[in-house]
Amino acid sequence: RFDESTVASRKGSLAPSPPPSVKGIGKKVAKPDYSEQKIVVAMVGLPARGKSYLSNKLMIYLRWLEYDVKVFNVGQLRRTKARQRAQQLGIKEMHNADFFSHSNAQATQSRDSLAEESLETLIQWLKEGGNVGIHDATNSTKSRRAKIEARIAKEKGMTLIFLESLCDDPGTIAANVELKVSQGDPDYKDMSPDDARRDFLRRISEYEKVYETITEPHLSYLRIKNVGEEVDLSRINGYLSSRIAFYLMNLHIRPRSIFFSRHGESQYNVEGKIGGDSLLSPRGMQYAKALPALITDNIGEKPLTVWTSTLKRTIQTSQYLPYTKLTWKSLDELDAGVCDAMTYEEIEQAYPDDSANRDEDKFNYRYRGGESYRDVVVRLEPVIMELERQENILIIGHQAILRCLYAYFHHLQQADLPYIKIPLHTVIKLTPKAYGCDEERYTLPINAVDTHRPKPKGAKQPEVHSTTRRKYYVEADNEMKPVV
Ligand code: ATP
Ligand code: F6P
Repeated sequence: RFDESTVASRKGSLAPSPPPSVKGIGKKVAKPDYSEQKIVVAMVGLPARGKSYLSNKLMIYLRWLEYDVKVFNVGQLRRTKARQRAQQLGIKEMHNADFFSHSNAQATQSRDSLAEESLETLIQWLKEGGNVGIHDATNSTKSRRAKIEARIAKEKGMTLIFLESLCDDPGTIAANVELKVSQGDPDYKDMSPDDARRDFLRRISEYEKVYETITEPHLSYLRIKNVGEEVDLSRINGYLSSRIAFYLMNLHIRPRSIFFSRHGESQYNVEGKIGGDSLLSPRGMQYAKALPALITDNIGEKPLTVWTSTLKRTIQTSQYLPYTKLTWKSLDELDAGVCDAMTYEEIEQAYPDDSANRDEDKFNYRYRGGESYRDVVVRLEPVIMELERQENILIIGHQAILRCLYAYFHHLQQADLPYIKIPLHTVIKLTPKAYGCDEERYTLPINAVDTHRPKPKGAKQPEVHSTTRRKYYVEADNEMKPVV
């Protein structure tokens, strides 16, 4: 459903049936209108079952696809309120395991009302234009879920999906508990690791006493058991809900690395031309020959699959790598349409207005007969989905393509995405961690031209979503912030 049939047909259209299309050729294009999509995703699960992890992954994925998504974390609200009360009344509340005991009536009431308040904020935010609000709480009893259901039923056009994470694997639970204790969970920042561990385990056992897995047959839900070992789906309908379910079903947390490399320097790179399907330059060939040693030194005996585009320069770059290789049409470079095979100077002369439009808003600019970065993001969606399913992958790709993929893993903003530095002859290694990705860059000592063009002054400034590297979330207006 692109406006220009050329985009879909030239790229073989591996793109998913996209949400509302965008218009415009050689100029800025409008943001898609998703205003009709209103989904509440209510998390369900004991503590340390990856609810916040899943909430944040889902948020990043849907934001990358341009939906307006926000996580409403009830734990953060609880701590914010406690801090305010401490400031106003001088009363310091203790949120140790006793606070989470269901035999503590006052605390139970307090927790219920915090969950309700957070849900109200979420509903208001959806009414003001949000698309997917994620209620990050335990929602671990039938009665709590019934309340959520009754409240959402009062709102016209809102869909409710419960997302339950069940886990009884002792290894996973122990690792998640250690993460809380070691990575500065805000509830335990003033405790020793031993006290924190003891208290957190007691909190879990308090929840276990009353926990009820979802058995309500009328609810829409997705249940993930032991990090995807088994997934139950019930009553999931509609485009966006199905996409959400499909994405969550593909996630795993097995340790792995994702390597990005552009093709070796190409003849067109040397000539300053964009696009095309040229072969590697002599220096590009040197890079292709040097790449296997760098990768095998890094990955050792572990299995790895190499993905390339269908263009000659990536296939040539992969030729000496001793791994299984797959080619993806979706990984072909951004299609520059009528500007293909031209230099930036030639484009500036032939299409001065287009060049100015691109400088003003590079993410949205669509080449005549070609693509915008936004189009590329849409066509890369199946690649992202497959990357989530896979383990060690090396992608030998192109500048624009790798920028889009890199932006997904580091959750970078659209306006910055087309200016991300992905130099030639450099391998970028991303290692997904609980709350972000670690990154290492390896530059081989083989010269290559610099194809990066800096952001011009006056270019569109970033709009909404923030932050680059994430380690752990801390309180800040419901946004994750890296811990420094
Ligand atoms: P709490 O209720 O205490 O906030 P939580 O359920 O939100 O806990 P997280 O803080 O999200 O738990 O736990 C993060 C850990 O969960 C990460 O180490 C991540 O690897 C792991 N994890 C991710 N997905 C799952 C899953 N489906 N099941 C269990 N653990 C998971
Ligand atoms: O210059 C190399 C290249 O891969 C071109 O083929 C492509 O059009 C360009 O990079 C994308 O970069 P930018 O979006 O900065 O023009």
